[in-house]
Amino acid sequence: MQTGCTLWFTGMSGSGKSTLSNLLSARLRAMGARVEVLDGDVLRTQLCRGLTFSKQDREENIRRIGFICELLTRNGVIAIAAAISPYREGRDELRSRIANFVEIHMDCPVDVLVERDVKGLYKKALSGEIKHFTGISDPYEPPLAPEVTIDSSRQTPEEGISAILNCMEGLGIISSPYETIPDSGESRQS
Ligand code: ADX
Repeated sequence: MQTGCTLWFTGMSGSGKSTLSNLLSARLRAMGARVEVLDGDVLRTQLCRGLTFSKQDREENIRRIGFICELLTRNGVIAIAAAISPYREGRDELRSRIANFVEIHMDCPVDVLVERDVKGLYKKALSGEIKHFTGISDPYEPPLAPEVTIDSSRQTPEEGISAILNCMEGLGIISSPYETIPDSGESRQS
């Protein structure tokens, strides 16, 4: 069984969390890894349906996604989560519970995000049409010591993927040249 882990992408809307998660999952699957992607946008139509963007509901969202990551990780799966997860405390709580928790901060300047505005949401947030929008009218607490920081305004997706794979190798989750490592049982002791 491969070593399980949770690759937790945090960052503002449009910072590249979903793009990198999908590219990364494809790369890991090509290596023969078992991978599951948990995307905030997708889960809000399923497991997290009905949750709002209040602080309390965002925390609940992260708690639910984190719980699934915990189960997957201890069963030897590479769980990839992509959710804004704006509150440090919630992320740190997951870190304390999940073995092999790798926090990846998608750190992109807000003016670039506003300029990109892929979903047209920043325009609505700035005009006040959407209230409590992360980074505009709601907080985002960046991680203090993430395992990986990627600035999608300066780095290509491929550079980002390499940084993450290097980090996973350094942590002993995959080997070099990149291959999954049989599970020692450690990730299941939680
Ligand atoms: S989280 O804060 O609870 O982690 P999550 O990642 O699930 O958020 O969902 C974020 C997505 O919801 C954004 O990419 C965006 O498409 C959409 N969204 C809608 N309203 C908001 C809002 N007020 N703040 C942030 N994102 C929002």
